[in-house]
Amino acid sequence: MTLFRYNFAARMKKKKKITITVDGYSSCGKSTFAKAIAAELGYLYIDSGAMYRAVTLHCLRRGKVSGGMADNASVVRLLPEISITFMFNRETGFNETVLNGENVEREIRDRAVSDNVSAVSTIPEVRTKLVELQRELGAGGGIVMDGRDIGTVVFPGAELKIFMTATPEVRARRRYLELLGKGLPADYAAVEKNINDRDRIDSSREMSPLRKADDAVVLDNSEMTPAEQMVWFKQIFKQKINES
Ligand code: DC
Repeated sequence: MTLFRYNFAARMKKKKKITITVDGYSSCGKSTFAKAIAAELGYLYIDSGAMYRAVTLHCLRRGKVSGGMADNASVVRLLPEISITFMFNRETGFNETVLNGENVEREIRDRAVSDNVSAVSTIPEVRTKLVELQRELGAGGGIVMDGRDIGTVVFPGAELKIFMTATPEVRARRRYLELLGKGLPADYAAVEKNINDRDRIDSSREMSPLRKADDAVVLDNSEMTPAEQMVWFKQIFKQKINES
């Protein structure tokens, strides 16, 4: 197994570094999958949802969003004072989200942020600012970025686009167990409602709604283990890299 892993990574490193986009519904394991493939390839991993969450956290702190509703004009006025960067955590091997110099990786996963992030991410000016930042981060290739519009809007020319999905029940159960595992308060019914609400808002918003890019490959991982997803990915990746 170790030898196979070494050979795969070593062979792939000699090839051109491509852009890989991972889009899909809330809580279908996009970031776990995207992190794993980035680590396998030695690529940079960027969680675009964390950026929308960081903007939402800032707006919550300033009282410009609550109860799933945003004061759009006030949110737009706050944008110039928001800076989002990433800080590499040596222990985990991944980037953490930094809002105006403060590491907010934990706070942005709180329920208050989850309940309000869809409202903030429907605001066109928020999307324009974050898409610009996402393109800067991915300018050199060798990146895996996950989100909702990465293959359709942020990097429409990406060499490999993956659209992930899983049944709503599977997603709610995974998210619930994830919260419990992190020692955070979790209520199954509330988690399920949040997932359904976010699916609806993310798919129906006017600007950059969640949809599969025409040239994306679908990964339904409802019944797949992380190891099975990695086997699936390696096959797809090899095909793409030989084509590009
Ligand atoms: O991936 P996530 O659940 O952490 O994303 C949080 C929210 O951010 C999600 O409900 C929709 C929004 N989002 C978006 O609109 N566009 C993206 N590229 C990423 C996330």
